[in-house]
Amino acid sequence: MEVIIVDTADEVARVAADAISALVAARPDAVLGVATGSSPEGIYDELSRRVAAGGLSLAGARAFMLDEYVGLPADHPERYRNVIQRAFVDKVDIAADAVAGPDGGSDDLAGACAAYEQAIADAGGIDLQLLGIGTDGHIAFNEPGSSLASRTRIKTLTHQTRADNARFFDGRIDDVPQHCLTQGIGTILDARHLVLVATGRHKAEAIHHLVEGPVSAMWPGSALQLHPHVTVVLDSPAASRL
Ligand code: GLP
Repeated sequence: MEVIIVDTADEVARVAADAISALVAARPDAVLGVATGSSPEGIYDELSRRVAAGGLSLAGARAFMLDEYVGLPADHPERYRNVIQRAFVDKVDIAADAVAGPDGGSDDLAGACAAYEQAIADAGGIDLQLLGIGTDGHIAFNEPGSSLASRTRIKTLTHQTRADNARFFDGRIDDVPQHCLTQGIGTILDARHLVLVATGRHKAEAIHHLVEGPVSAMWPGSALQLHPHVTVVLDSPAASRL
């Protein structure tokens, strides 16, 4: 695991964007794994600037999302497919139909999970997966206690995660869905390169367990220790417990 500590969130975004730029330069049809949450937003903005400046094109790339809420209407602004449209797709030159996520609106959620695993496999797997981390150590929506071998499945969100994400729902925790579909930890570990970004002191405990703790289902991020190619990019506050 490579741990890169920089001074500012902007530098975190640039380092992560450099990894994506290098991959796409070598492989224009790269398969990216994209993440929601506030942590990757600066990366998408940096990629947007590079595309606008002509130094990068994602026109040949594909992307898979990590997770999705269950039960939000298709046009709900916080449905993750809509979030990633605004945060990423609309800002770069990737084709909208080249970006897929698990279908949290399906009548057959288990079938949607299986179909999503198959779609990733059919694409040849994910070359570079961007990740954030929850304050409780979750990656994607793999909450503490998730099997380290898990695949895409239905999960119940913890109170902590719903409280953390209530800020996206006008502060109303009751409006945050109770369930989600998420790539499993095993699914995430199948990606060929994992790039996890975290900023702020509120992430310091989760980062401590990810980097220095024992591998434990109670701190899902610690599973990254099992992967041969991981880059963790942190600002100083997020690194303050290392
Ligand atoms: C959500 C997402 C995760 C993300 C986490 C942290 O729960 N499902 O993928 O890592 O939030 O979000 P933020 O970056 O906003 O702190």
